[in-house]
Amino acid sequence: MGFRIVGVLGSPLAGGNTAKLLERALAGARDAGCEVERIDVYDLTFRPCREIFYCREHETCAMKDDMIPVYREFAELDSLIVATPVMTMGIPGALKSFMDRFQVFFMAKYMRKKPLVPEEKRAHRRGLYIGISGMAVPYVFDGAKLTMKAFFSIIDVEYWDELLTNDMDTIRDISTRPDILDAAYRKGFRLGELLHQEGP
Ligand SMILES: Cc1cc2nc3c(=O)[nH]c(=O)nc-3n(C[C@H](O)[C@H](O)[C@H](O)COP(=O)(O)O)c2cc1C
Repeated sequence: MGFRIVGVLGSPLAGGNTAKLLERALAGARDAGCEVERIDVYDLTFRPCREIFYCREHETCAMKDDMIPVYREFAELDSLIVATPVMTMGIPGALKSFMDRFQVFFMAKYMRKKPLVPEEKRAHRRGLYIGISGMAVPYVFDGAKLTMKAFFSIIDVEYWDELLTNDMDTIRDISTRPDILDAAYRKGFRLGELLHQEGP
């Protein structure tokens, strides 16, 4: 059977350093035999969660915007890659708003005890976090990692692995670091390979 890996880009730059790493990881997943799809959060039109709580009783959101089809894609994906720069010691606001809108999954899983992710998928959904930052301080990914882990847990994705590159203010162009691009490719490949080895 075919497995689908979704890559989410949290950077506003469709061809920036984060996007280059995501593309390498998705190329690896594709070469491992998976279907891949990239979602650029900055291309979506949606508003942040308004705490309407329509999702307490419904399997979707009251705000009918670009998030609605995304919910189905996230219920059905087999593994996930989120690639994002650090902004203001966390993740970019647009990506955070995107994640907050998964309250729909939170309510289904924790309140109604009826997760939107099918049982057979829950066992094998893994997540890879690709992070980059300008600064080289040791705690620079702490905030982003907390958010990423919470998000993965809400959508039934295991926090499987990470590729964190700091000091982009010095590196500037990730193309000068084939070692990091190769690491992204290898992690994407492994993510896909694992699905074929251990999937349903
Ligand atoms: C609005 C904004 C806020 C940022 N805040 C931080 C920060 O708090 N810490 C940090 O290390 N880098 C910060 N950066 C730097 C980015 O993480 C870094 O430049 C990264 O390489 C950008 O990736 P991109 O070009 O793929 O979007 C910030 C950049 C922007 C644009």
